[in-house]
Parts: sequence; structure tokens; C-alpha cells
Amino acid sequence: MAKDKTTFTCTECGGTSPRWLGKCPSCGAWNSLIEQVAEAGPGKNRLSAPQGYAGLAHAQPVMPLAAIEAQDVARTPSGIEELDRVLGGGIVEGGVVLIGGDPGIGKSTLLLQAMDALQRAGLPALYVTGEESGAQVALRSRRLGIDGSQVQLLAEIQLEKILATVDATQPAVVVIDSIQTTYSDQLTSAPGSVAQVRECAAHLTRMAKGTGIAVILVGHVTKEGALAGPRVLEHMVDTVLYFEGDTHSQFRLVRAIKNRFGAVNEIGVFAMTEKGLKGVSNPSAIFLSQHSEPVPGSCVMVTLEGTRPLLVEIQALVDSGGPSPRRLSVGLDKDRLAMLLAVLHRHAGVACMDQDVFVNAVGGVRISEPAADLAVMLSITSSLRGKALPRGFLAFGEVGLAGEVRPAPRGQERLKEAAKLGFSVAVVPKANAPKKPIEGLTIHAVERVEEAMNVVRGIG
Ligand code: TYD
Ligand code: MG
Repeated sequence: MAKDKTTFTCTECGGTSPRWLGKCPSCGAWNSLIEQVAEAGPGKNRLSAPQGYAGLAHAQPVMPLAAIEAQDVARTPSGIEELDRVLGGGIVEGGVVLIGGDPGIGKSTLLLQAMDALQRAGLPALYVTGEESGAQVALRSRRLGIDGSQVQLLAEIQLEKILATVDATQPAVVVIDSIQTTYSDQLTSAPGSVAQVRECAAHLTRMAKGTGIAVILVGHVTKEGALAGPRVLEHMVDTVLYFEGDTHSQFRLVRAIKNRFGAVNEIGVFAMTEKGLKGVSNPSAIFLSQHSEPVPGSCVMVTLEGTRPLLVEIQALVDSGGPSPRRLSVGLDKDRLAMLLAVLHRHAGVACMDQDVFVNAVGGVRISEPAADLAVMLSITSSLRGKALPRGFLAFGEVGLAGEVRPAPRGQERLKEAAKLGFSVAVVPKANAPKKPIEGLTIHAVERVEEAMNVVRGIG
């Protein structure tokens, strides 16, 4: 195959250069040139035709939307229930899934298990490993108890060879582990660079759409959000799943952050065991730590991202700090913490200006919904005063800058789950107060932060 010419395109202005340069010759931006294959042929991708476009291409037929028959997508459940939940029901024909997560969190393990289950369900699977040797994958499969698996294995990192193998073996699902190790012959950039990762993913996506073969790409993310990581791929693929959780704890969350075939923010919960990942079908209470007596600085909330309510403990530690006190949050938004501290001071008279404030969502879970606000504020106040919240206490609700407490979506479901797990006192936004009482749960409905603080003072 004749090599196509490579050019370097500026991500800022779109200008091109035949060579890599530190500074874009067109707009002067630094480090913005990335390599691209320019396919042979004049006028490729040029849409500047002063005399009109008719000379460049023929007009294509269009049709009214109503005349097109909508087709349901065909899904095959992988047999791993928690994975199917985040995928929106199963693997979709021609669908491209990206699974991101920190190294060692369990991506390869989960996919090997899923491929084995799919193979058993009658879908031929190909597992392409670029990070580990065949022997290492075989060792893992023995550990997982699937060493008799008929999953086809290919240890290869060159894209062209992978595509040729896929073409020859015609599997229904291909796993590429990982996209960062895959490289194309067409580019001179090193494997793992943005240009390589993007080019390889684009080819694999085109192959998936053209043949109906489902593709699962594994990508690494670094704590910083990863340069050359899968972030650049998110818009290319149909579904993006991210692994969350602490590699040191047993539990792993897989969250759908984009899904063209299902709901976003859906969560699958797994436990890492000696024999691989096992689904946790009733996960609501796993993010609570076990205190024999209530401790200061701890407040439980119910989060509802996806379809299942999860009870999560928020912990805060307020300790006297130096001249520039630190604010640190793990699993919660740092900017939001600063805002909540300001609201706490202004509207509830709780001052933490000269204090270090640390906040943590227990178990490595990440909470992005603002419904955590009230629990964060109560745990901070509880730590500052050294006074524990009562046993069986929980709180949720968004807090605004004016000190108002706003409702959280689907409050009833959250409260019912809490009651089911034996919680007895809840502070919730007024609009979330149930019309009928919930058995075993005393509900304090509040409209403002001050009210919430007063409730706690009254019952603490
Ligand atoms: P792995 O799937 O290799 O992670 P990733 O592909 O995301 O980098 O998972 C590696 C970790 O999981 C490793 O620390 C060992 C642990 N593990 C188990 O605890 N039990 C098992 O059965 C397996 C296969 C791995
Ligand atoms: Mg791996």
C-alpha cells in the first residue's frame, strides 16, 4: 500500500504544515500541531468552492424523516448483569464502547469475563491484547476459572494487522486492550500519542459501523484527565464507561457517562474477588463505614445517579489550619466545597475561615450531583463542633448561594431506600417531603440552611 502523505494540523486554527513545528505558522499557538494522514487526491475535505459546489460533487437524495423506518437496535446481553445495566441492555451490533479507568482497576478482568460469557452465549469474540502477552492473559483466565474458554486471542499492536485479522476471522465482538498501545503504520508519531490514538480509534469505529462488529476499546486515564488518553475519543464512540472506586477497596463502580443506546449515569457495581469481578446486585449500603457509635464529622446521604439509590457516607474533618488553610475534597467537587463553606458562614454562621477542611465520600465513589450539599454542610458543622449526628440520620438536598435548600430529583425513592435500610431521621428539602408518612422515618422538611442547622441542634 502506498503511504499517504502526512501533514500536521493545528488544533487551534486548523492551519496545516508539512512538518512538525513547535509553533503553528498560521496562528502562532504553541504545541498545537498534531499529525494527520492526508489522503491522496486533490481537494480532499476542502469546502471552499467560490463558483458553487456542483462541480465538486453530485447532489444526494434526501427524504422526509417520517419516511424512514426506525429500527430498534439489536442487543445481546453479555450475561454479566451489572455490565449489561450500564450498557443499556447488552452489546449492540456495530456499537463502539470505550472503557476508561485507572491502571489496575479491573478493565482487562471485566472484559475477559464478558468475552467468555458472550462466547458462551454464541457470539464469537476476539480479544486483542497489546499490553500483556498471550501467556499473561492465559494466566488471568485460569485465575478467573475460564481457562477452557473459546475466546480467540491475538497479541498484536499494529492496527493494520488487527484489522486484517478481524476481517479474516469475522468475530461478533472485538476487544482492543488497550487503544493506547495500538499504532498505525500510516503515522510516524509514537504509539500512545494523541494522533495515533485518534487515528486508530477512527479506523476501528469505521470498521464497526461498516461490518456490524461490536468494538470495545480499553483506555487509560491518569488522575489529571490524561493527555493522549481516551478523552479525545469520547465524541467518536457510542458509549463511554468509566471505572470508579478505590483500587485499595474491594468495590468497583462502572458508570456510563455517555450512551447512545441507553441511560447515562447508570451505575454497575462490582466487587473484586479472588476469582475476578462479581456483580453486586443490592449495592445500596456498601458505601457506609461501620461505626459502632456515631462519630463527629460523618453524615449519610442518598445519591441517585442512574436508576438505583445508593447510600453514601460523607466524612468531613475540620482542623485548625495555618495562615492559608487547605480545602480538600475526595469524590466531591472542590469548587463546590468552597462555595458551600461560604454559604455555611454567611447563612448559618458557621465559620471555617481559619480551619483546614477535608471532605471525603467513603469508598472511592464520586458524587457529582448537588444533592450532596446538605450532607457535606452537616458533616462539616458536626466535625467543627465535635458533635456527632444522631444514629440513623441522613440528609440530602441542593443548597443555593442564597441559603435556600432546593429539591433533589426523585426524593421519594431516596427516602424509601433509606427507610428500608433502617434509617430513622431525615433532613430533606421541603419539596421532597412525602405526602404520606414513610414508616419508621421521621422527616424534617427544610427550606433554608439555617433551618437544617436548627433541626440538627434540636435532635443532636
Ligand atoms: P486488571 O484487570 O489487570 O486491571 P486493568 O486492566 O484495569 O489495568 O486488574 C488488575 C487487578 O485486579 C490486580 O491488581 C489484581 C486484581 N485481581 C483480583 O483481585 N482478582 C482477580 O481474579 C484478578 C484477575 C485480578
Ligand atoms: Mg489491563
